[in-house]
Amino acid sequence: APVETFDYLVFGGTGDLALRKLLPALYLRDKAGQITAESRVMAISRSQLDLAEYKAKAEEALRRHLHVDEFDEATWERFGARLDYVAADATSTHGWDELQTHLSGRDDVVRVFYLATSPELFGPISERLQAFGLVTEKSRVVLEKPIGRDLESAKRINDEVGSVFAEEQIYRIDHYLGKETVQNLLALRFANSLFEPVWDAGHVDHVQITVAETVGVEGRGGYYDNSGALRDMVQNHLMQLLCLVGMEPPVSLDQEAVRDEKIKVLRSLKPIGVENIAACTVRGQYRAGAVNGAAVGSYAEEAGASSGGKPSNTETFVALKVEIENWRWSGVPFYLRTGKRMPAKVSEIVIQFRQVPHSIFPRGAGEITPNLLVVRLQPDESIRLNLMAKDPGPGGMRLREASLNLSFAETFKSRFPDAYERLLMDVVRGNPTLFMRRDEVEAAWRWTESILDAWAARGDTVKPYIAGTWGPSQSVALIERDGRTWHDDAMTAG
Ligand code: BG6
Repeated sequence: APVETFDYLVFGGTGDLALRKLLPALYLRDKAGQITAESRVMAISRSQLDLAEYKAKAEEALRRHLHVDEFDEATWERFGARLDYVAADATSTHGWDELQTHLSGRDDVVRVFYLATSPELFGPISERLQAFGLVTEKSRVVLEKPIGRDLESAKRINDEVGSVFAEEQIYRIDHYLGKETVQNLLALRFANSLFEPVWDAGHVDHVQITVAETVGVEGRGGYYDNSGALRDMVQNHLMQLLCLVGMEPPVSLDQEAVRDEKIKVLRSLKPIGVENIAACTVRGQYRAGAVNGAAVGSYAEEAGASSGGKPSNTETFVALKVEIENWRWSGVPFYLRTGKRMPAKVSEIVIQFRQVPHSIFPRGAGEITPNLLVVRLQPDESIRLNLMAKDPGPGGMRLREASLNLSFAETFKSRFPDAYERLLMDVVRGNPTLFMRRDEVEAAWRWTESILDAWAARGDTVKPYIAGTWGPSQSVALIERDGRTWHDDAMTAG
C-alpha cells in the first residue's frame, strides 16, 4: 500500500549519496507502487542546473546504479515527472525564496528534509528552513552520518538542529540498521528460544565482527582524509552491530525500548585510552596492491590530491578489541575490524562458542573445533551454524566440521530491498525505530573519541598493508595474542 503523500527534499542533491543511493531507493519504491501520484522529490544543491539538466543527471545515475532489470522506461517517466530542482546555498540566502515558492500550498503533506551534505551544514540549513517558514507541522529532518567528527561537534550539531526540530522530528540515519540481515539479528535472537540461553559469557568464547570492502576511497578523498575508518565506519555501523549482538532483550520492539537497550551497551564499553591503546587497537593504511586480480594504487595516491600532497596519517583499516563490561559479557572479547581494499566485500558476525569441557574421543578422531554461529550480512545473506559431526564410513570415529546453512536467497526467494528503501519510507511513516537517538550518537562518539585522543597522544602512525589483504600483520597479532584467529578463510570461501 502506498505511504502518505510526501515531498522529499534532498539537500546535497547532486552528491554521491543522493545519486548512488537515495534516488535509486525512491525510484524502486515508486516502481513497487508505494508512492502516491501527488508525491514529489526535490533536489537542492549549490550547482546552477535547470530541471532538465538535473533530470538528465538523475536518469544517468539510475541507469548506472540500478540493475538492468530494475530500470524501465515507464517507471522512469513517472518518477522523472516527480523530480524538481532548486539551486540554493546553505550559507547564504540565495535560492531560498525559490524553494519557498516551489513548496507553497503543500503544507499539508509530509515534508522530509534529507540532509545529505557535510555535517557542518546541518545547523545552517535547519536555521534557513525555519527562517523561510518551511518547517511545517508534518516536517521531519533526516541527518546523514557522520554527525560531526567528535563529541563536541556532534553535540553542537544536535543543539543547532534541535533548536529548530523536536527530537521526534529528527531521524539520524545509520543505513546498516536498514539492512535485512541486521534486522534479522533481532529475529534470530528473540524469535528463537535456542540461542538466547547460550548468548553469554558462560557459553560464548568471543565474537568477531568484520565489515570488509574491496573499494578504496573512490572520489570521496576530501571527506575521507579528514575522517578515517574509525569515524567513517566504527563510530556508527560497527557500534550498531555490536549493540544489536550484545544488548539485553528489549521489552518490546517499541522504538524507545530497543534504543534504551542499545545505549546500555555503549555505556558498558570498557574505555580504550593511552594505557591500553596499543593492546586494543590497530590502524592501517593500504599500499598499492591488487584486489580481485586488478592492480590498484595506494591510499596516498588515491587521496593524495585532497591532502595537498602531504603524506596523510588517515587510517583505512581499524581492528579493535572491545569489551562490554556487564554481567552478560564479562571477559568475552569482541574483535571488530573494518577496512577498504580488502580481499572481498563481506560483512560477517561470528559468534564463537566455548570449546567442549572434555573430549571423549581418541586422538586419531581429529580435533574438535568450537561451534560457530556465522551471520553473514552481505553479500549472500545467510546464517550458518558450524557443528562437529562424524565423518561417514566404517573406519572408526573421525570427526569433521559440517554446517547448517540458511541462505536467505534460497529460502525466501524474494528480492532484498536496499537498506535505504526501507529507511526512507520509515521516515514518511513516522517510524524512528531504526534511527539513532541523540544520546546514542553522543555515547558512541564519547567512546570513539577516547581512541582518537589516545592515538593522537601517542603520535600513532598508520601501519601499512598491501591492498587486497586482510590488513596489517598487527591485526593478526592483536587477536593471536589471545590465542584466537580471525575467520578469514570462511569469508573468502563465501
Ligand atoms: C558508508 C561509508 O557509511 O558505508 C562508506 O561512509 C562505506 O565509506 C559504506 O563504503 C559501506 O556501506 P555498505 O552498505 O556498502 O556496506
